[in-house]
Amino acid sequence: MKITHTKESRIKNVDFDNLSFGEIFTDHMFVCDYKDGVWNTPEIMPYQPIQMDPSSSVFHYGQAVFEGMKAYKDESNEVWLFRPDQNFERINKSSERLSMPTFPKELFFNGLEKLLSLDKEWIKKGTGNSLYIRPFVFASQAGVQASASNAYKFMIICSPVSSYYSSSEVHVQVAEKYSRAASGGVGFAKAAGNYAAQFYPTSLALKEGFQQIIWTDANTHEYLEEAGTMNIFFRINDTLVTTPTSDRILDGITRKSILRLSEHLGIKTDVRPITIHELLSAKKDGSLKEIFGAGTAVVVSPIKGFGYQNERYVLEDIEDSFAQKLKNHMVAIQTNAAEDPFGWRYPVNTTDSVSL
Ligand code: COI
Repeated sequence: MKITHTKESRIKNVDFDNLSFGEIFTDHMFVCDYKDGVWNTPEIMPYQPIQMDPSSSVFHYGQAVFEGMKAYKDESNEVWLFRPDQNFERINKSSERLSMPTFPKELFFNGLEKLLSLDKEWIKKGTGNSLYIRPFVFASQAGVQASASNAYKFMIICSPVSSYYSSSEVHVQVAEKYSRAASGGVGFAKAAGNYAAQFYPTSLALKEGFQQIIWTDANTHEYLEEAGTMNIFFRINDTLVTTPTSDRILDGITRKSILRLSEHLGIKTDVRPITIHELLSAKKDGSLKEIFGAGTAVVVSPIKGFGYQNERYVLEDIEDSFAQKLKNHMVAIQTNAAEDPFGWRYPVNTTDSVSL
């Protein structure tokens, strides 16, 4: 791997106490080009703009996928990733669905480890701090033929973050018209277009005072499937309910970790379809205790209320919140502040010499 160091770190200009999600990037980035059926030798270089032909396939047909992962620093300055094997497998699943080449495991892990070694000063310890890592792949071939590209770029960029949604009270609107995914589509993949398609409906919801949308199935708009860019959980009495994964639902790493952790903590889980009608009657009879989203960026995001058919519903505050309990446990495991009985934590060797 070719490594070019930045001449001067930008870290001294960063106000780590006032970070907005995904706005500032570290000093280096990882780039690997694919051409004529092979991935070339990867490179780590100073973070910088890239040159692209205006006809590049990604601009016209959106052939692009991404991942979201986080690195954490513990009290002894050790750096940890959380289940990175899962992100690696998922980016390749997403790539396959978008007709893109899969990326070799060794290049992924070597690149990630070297990048984190170079930019480890950007990973801050302390509650809520982490380095958000964004691996992504896109079609870079010039030409507007509407077919899979022959050239791709796999890149990794990193952004220091504290927490994602700033508003402490999240209200969501249940989708009655728009959809994020349909059966047979690309909803399970982290395809760039899945997110682009959410921006417009979300902007309409924002105007009505909601922060996010609860996505429902495209056929009937009855089944509650995801919350914004996250998987969704409902606490009905003392059971945690979440919808099963399918070709419409992202196989969230936080989602599956929460299910496993809940079992471990003795919280009953139920993975099954859930409809808006069930939600409304659970709200009415008082059995709906909590709703929360789960994803890499926020880990767990409690939802205070929801809107459906011009009615608004607000959840009571709860003392022994599952959302809070699960978030605390997850973050403690992620940051090496608690035992990891599942083997999820992955130590990053940042002492490996990268001074080329
Ligand atoms: C996640 O939380 O997992 C996400 O994908 C959020 C990202 C789109 C900012």
